[in-house]
Amino acid sequence: MSSDTGGTALWGGRFATGLDPEILEFTGSLSFDARLVRHDLIASLAHARMLLETQIVGREDAEAILDGLAGLLSEIEEGSLTVTGPDEDIHTWIERTLHERIGPAAGRLHTARSRNDQVSAAMRLYVIEATDGLTELAASLLGRWHSKAKQHVDSWMPGYTHLQRAQPVSLAHHLLAHFWALEADVRRLQTVRERASVSPLGAAALAGTRHPIDPHRTAELLGLRRVYANSLFAVADRDFVVEAVFACALLVLHLGRWAEEIVLWTSSEFGFAELADSLAQGSSLMPQKKNPEAAELLRGKGGRLIGDLTGLLAVLKGLPFSYNSDLQEDKEPLFDAFDTAGAGLSAAERLANGIRFDIARMRAALDSGFVTATDLADILAQRGLPFREAHRLAGLAVREAEERGCQLWELDPDVATLPPEIDAEVLGATRPDRAGGGRVSFGSPAPEQVERQLELAAESLEGVRETLGSHVSPPIYRAYRAGGLRNEELS
Ligand code: ARG
Repeated sequence: MSSDTGGTALWGGRFATGLDPEILEFTGSLSFDARLVRHDLIASLAHARMLLETQIVGREDAEAILDGLAGLLSEIEEGSLTVTGPDEDIHTWIERTLHERIGPAAGRLHTARSRNDQVSAAMRLYVIEATDGLTELAASLLGRWHSKAKQHVDSWMPGYTHLQRAQPVSLAHHLLAHFWALEADVRRLQTVRERASVSPLGAAALAGTRHPIDPHRTAELLGLRRVYANSLFAVADRDFVVEAVFACALLVLHLGRWAEEIVLWTSSEFGFAELADSLAQGSSLMPQKKNPEAAELLRGKGGRLIGDLTGLLAVLKGLPFSYNSDLQEDKEPLFDAFDTAGAGLSAAERLANGIRFDIARMRAALDSGFVTATDLADILAQRGLPFREAHRLAGLAVREAEERGCQLWELDPDVATLPPEIDAEVLGATRPDRAGGGRVSFGSPAPEQVERQLELAAESLEGVRETLGSHVSPPIYRAYRAGGLRNEELS
């Protein structure tokens, strides 16, 4: 086949000329899908092995293909081979390179396969690997937050609603709140992994094949849990990519909410925390500045991830079934989402390591804002007053303390302006640490509840680590590592 593209196109028969180089440049994806090379080689190994087992391709050619693919994979893994060339995409690159290695037998690899089912298979393997990588990073940050929280069960600070001081909480409780947000992200990633675990191989271009293939065997070799039930959907579906990007986006938004608190807490207005010098930037103009730029960027990356997600959704909107080239636009958002989330988690862990909390400042912040007024009302309600009435009386006490410029617990219960229900015992209970410790309902900041929460968090983290440990690489990959791709029995 003669072609302006150096003879790399996969079609020739129907075309009199090669592809216009600028159109190739515009439509090509090798510059960004090269990172799928391992995944595509592994999926190709499974496909080739299935072609051998079903005798669709004869032993000699099939073994040449398996050996050739294995050779490429090990060179890629060793780093002695890099993906470059005039090829349109990674699938074309692999086919050309294989052909250079083993000759015409390479032409049989594409039997009963199209790049349409091929690309989805590679993407699915990528998502599975990437979710595990991200989960590992997240587990490490979760562990960090957990051990910080353990040290601060009795460090009291204001909890906020509407960014106004609201009620006392412990620093442990606050850190654990972020723990649970990220823990949910980790669970979501595992769901994403599970949903990506479907093999599209065998759907071919869109309508399956006349060859007597065994798609369930291909799926088994790849360690994928299910096989597509509809060949059109198999090649049209990118929901697993959307879900992966969404999971990354939400994770980064969660990191950003914590990062925003670092920005606030390290300001002189709050003064609750200080970052290690190695984690903050100075100003080129103002010598006194110490800017929490990593935290700001962690917050800013959320915008980027929302862009990845909405961009991807926009590609899918109104796209007719089944495969369309628009789907090639799924890759950059996916890669960017995982890359950014991974980098964000690593940066977040460094910040979590190098942040020093000013416990005294936090504690002092409880001495204004009457953050224990609810406790006053609660105690009156426990004594039998309707809560609404208790709320009103507590409000009177707040007004009284405000006028006198004192704390609730400093009020004299005998002054005529205070209602008789508000006695010394009630006022004493408004001391912030006593009040915080008194909030004993499940999941509250009272130390015994936080101890329980720490146990639940540790159990969950243990579960995450066990799940990660239970993930094994695909059977075909294990066979490749063991040099057993040609073995009669391969399971
Ligand atoms: N590079 C393509 C993609 O990423 C591979 C599938 C191409 N299929 C095709 N018929 N042009 O989606």
